[in-house]
Amino acid sequence: MSLAKREAELLHAITHRGTVPDPPEWWRGAVFYEVYTHSFNDTTGNGIGDIPGVIARLDYIRDLGVDGLWLTPFYASPQVDNGYDISDFRAVDPDFGTIGDVRRLIAEAHDRGLKIMFDFVLGHTSDAHLWFRESASSRDNDRADWYVWADPSPDGRPPNNWMSSFGGSAWRWEPRRAQYCYHPFLDCQPALNLANPEVLAAMEDNLRFWLDMGLDGFRLDAVQCLSYDTALRSNPPAREGDNPSVAGGPNNPFKSQIHLFDRDMTDAIPILNRIRAVADEYEPQRVLIGELADVDSSRLASKYTVGNDRLHVVYDFDLIHRADNIRDWTDMLALRSEYTMPGAGLNVFTNHDSPRAVSNLMAEACDAGRAPDAARLLLFLQCTLMGGAILFQGEELGLEQPEIPKEEIKDPWALALWPDFEGRDGVRCPIPWDRDAPNCGFSDATAPWHRVPEAHAAAAVNVQEADPGSVLAYTRRLLRWRRDMPLLRTASERVLHDMPEQVIAYERVTEDEVLLCAANVGLDEVDIALPRSSLCPAFTLSETALENERLTLGPLAAIALTN
Ligand code: NOJ
Repeated sequence: MSLAKREAELLHAITHRGTVPDPPEWWRGAVFYEVYTHSFNDTTGNGIGDIPGVIARLDYIRDLGVDGLWLTPFYASPQVDNGYDISDFRAVDPDFGTIGDVRRLIAEAHDRGLKIMFDFVLGHTSDAHLWFRESASSRDNDRADWYVWADPSPDGRPPNNWMSSFGGSAWRWEPRRAQYCYHPFLDCQPALNLANPEVLAAMEDNLRFWLDMGLDGFRLDAVQCLSYDTALRSNPPAREGDNPSVAGGPNNPFKSQIHLFDRDMTDAIPILNRIRAVADEYEPQRVLIGELADVDSSRLASKYTVGNDRLHVVYDFDLIHRADNIRDWTDMLALRSEYTMPGAGLNVFTNHDSPRAVSNLMAEACDAGRAPDAARLLLFLQCTLMGGAILFQGEELGLEQPEIPKEEIKDPWALALWPDFEGRDGVRCPIPWDRDAPNCGFSDATAPWHRVPEAHAAAAVNVQEADPGSVLAYTRRLLRWRRDMPLLRTASERVLHDMPEQVIAYERVTEDEVLLCAANVGLDEVDIALPRSSLCPAFTLSETALENERLTLGPLAAIALTN
């Protein structure tokens, strides 16, 4: 594998992207709501959100106007990485509920016209999984090559220089085998050897177990990590700025290498083909949404979704990590619209791994006390830019990133890289449902797993439901409007350059329709010349004025105009 070969693969994927079918599939351009299960709604008083808690709030999710929801992992797990360390793919962690609750959740979501997806981790398990216990016990057990094992180098050190993106070497020593085991994330998350057909078949059956219940699809964790260079070659060193999409703070040691041999390997494609074939066994159509992190993900999206035998959609982290400021987005948006097929990407401005969007992307507006307006603007962009969208819980409330004192940090990634990386606790704080209830209505526990930040109480759901001018009320309006605009699901996109630095503008275009969207991300009024005439407003956020081809946008204002 070389960088040139990677580029060739990419070029092939981009030129063979295909066309959007008519009518489009249900998932194309859809808006999903990400439920961070731990922090959504606790009905048992154990301080952790649970599945009955999600069921109790399904009306709330439906009323937002989204097409479906995705739940973060609730499987049996030691919870070292909040459920992304799975010890039994077919069991529900009792903290979250029972299999019966899961069946009810699927049925109740469907009763409300919502699609429902679960999280699934294909690439690794917990080291508490029975497969790993057996595999680690000797070199000649039945599951000896179910994980990625390697002999030490002659000096006894790990076989190569691969690192965990969560800090330190990606190899852990196993004395019983006198070998190292590979883990791209925490050392308790050993990588599965998916190149072994038995392992892949076992994982396929695990997927079927949930699909048989009527689940509509999966969000697949870290699809950049499904295969590895079998020759275990060391990665070459990176130069400053080489890894703009890697999270974990500015000094994450993982950034010091070009991840040529441990991420985004061609051998992952046959694995994706097999997984897609499993999804295709079902009617109505099930969807596979891949999380593509660490790598140049918006450019690579096509490679993971091209044709009808890989994933349906992937989401990337570029809008979150690759710009210090939203004002730098224009070139990146242009690149995304060039590389991704309409509807095969998702606009993700934050998720359970990233800071709250408004604080991360619109710091200037937050400092000026305009966070709710900035949140509205981001929602406008998220719902009108090409692609579907995943709204992370609480974004519809315009929540800001809370500061979490070191002693309350639970995220192992933050603890490994502290103080250079504040970690993921801030975005994972529980949802404030009721301003005046204990724990803002999230839980009856005296000490829930994370407290609701004091500053979030004023933004509680019951406060915003009573206020027609709230971010919540706006989100519902925006998503209702989006539903009535089929063009937003499938139209291609043309980013408008030559705009003032504080303006993000683009056209969504079909053969006979145009929707021109313009947003002022700055705090001063701005006046722009439109590239076409005879447009009329379809959706307006805040103060805008249109006169012939001149458009005036007030601070943090946005508009969508149709022909
Ligand atoms: C991506 C998940 O979103 C993140 O939360 C997790 O820590 C890593 N993958 C490892 O599974």
